[in-house]
Amino acid sequence: MKRIGILTSGGDAPGMNAAIRAAVRTALYHDMEIIGIERGYEGLIEGSFRGMDLASVGDILHRGGTVLKTARSERFMTEEGQLEAMNNLEKCGIEGIIVCGGDGSYRGAAELSRRGVPVIGIPGTIDNDMGYTDYTIGYDTAVNTVLDAISMLRDTTSSHERTTILEVMGRDCGDIALYAGLTGGADGILIPELPVDLDELAAKLEEGMARGKNHSLIIKAEGVDISVEELKRELDKRTNLDIRTVVLAYLQRGGSPTARDRMLATLTANKAVELLRNDEYGYAVGTVRGEVIKMPLEKAVAIKREADLYLIPMIDMLSR
Ligand code: F6P
Repeated sequence: MKRIGILTSGGDAPGMNAAIRAAVRTALYHDMEIIGIERGYEGLIEGSFRGMDLASVGDILHRGGTVLKTARSERFMTEEGQLEAMNNLEKCGIEGIIVCGGDGSYRGAAELSRRGVPVIGIPGTIDNDMGYTDYTIGYDTAVNTVLDAISMLRDTTSSHERTTILEVMGRDCGDIALYAGLTGGADGILIPELPVDLDELAAKLEEGMARGKNHSLIIKAEGVDISVEELKRELDKRTNLDIRTVVLAYLQRGGSPTARDRMLATLTANKAVELLRNDEYGYAVGTVRGEVIKMPLEKAVAIKREADLYLIPMIDMLSR
């Protein structure tokens, strides 16, 4: 292929810019043309395209967000939207595209692929909810952002001898909560992959306080079917703790990507261009145990992420 496109789609994730940079510079190195498609599938439908040169991706490697902008496109879910997108690709002579996004974006990519468009997916989401790859771009930065928040919350929580409930993102996946909770020393972790036992949690917190702990921290994933306010109310009923709640929300999506996220973005975007260059497409690119892998998009979309539940006993063991 000699002319390809790249778009970022769904929620932005730190490292998307590193992926754009790697894709653009790999393509240009091979004398391929690369077109930036703005606002994800929306830009594909509207024909919002711009040529990318070496300078267009200068000074973005360390920045969060995405210079191509992103969107969640309702229109792209319709047949009409998809046909319009394909029409624009053909008009512009774009032979294949790279889609950087999460599972919703991948479903769109698989649909385009079914319709005959050469597509490669690279995993861009803070949620880490894609089963075919060990990590997604943005997840490591989000976990580190949560850790920073935990450190700051600990200062005030311990000074006031309180309990803080912190809600983190992740959609239906508990990975951000689980990993930030374990590495941040949380006393309780609530993830959608496990049932919530309020009595058990309350007893654990009370027991800790009785043993001389002066504060505690609970991390709750947003996908757990109880709001932070409800959780506080339920724990208020069961304990004498002084509880505060914090929802970290979009702060988790910003910030300079960590080295791990930049590496994952660089490796997967580079591989995506190499595949298109060799006329190989219809794949999702990711990493498994540190190795860059490719898997048919349809298959990758169907793999559900399993939570690392073996970590749970360790959390109980260590948060004492
Ligand atoms: O998928 C990334 C994510 O940040 C989720 O963790 C969260 O549930 C969702 O996006 C929020 O989406 P929006 O930006 O549309 O509010």
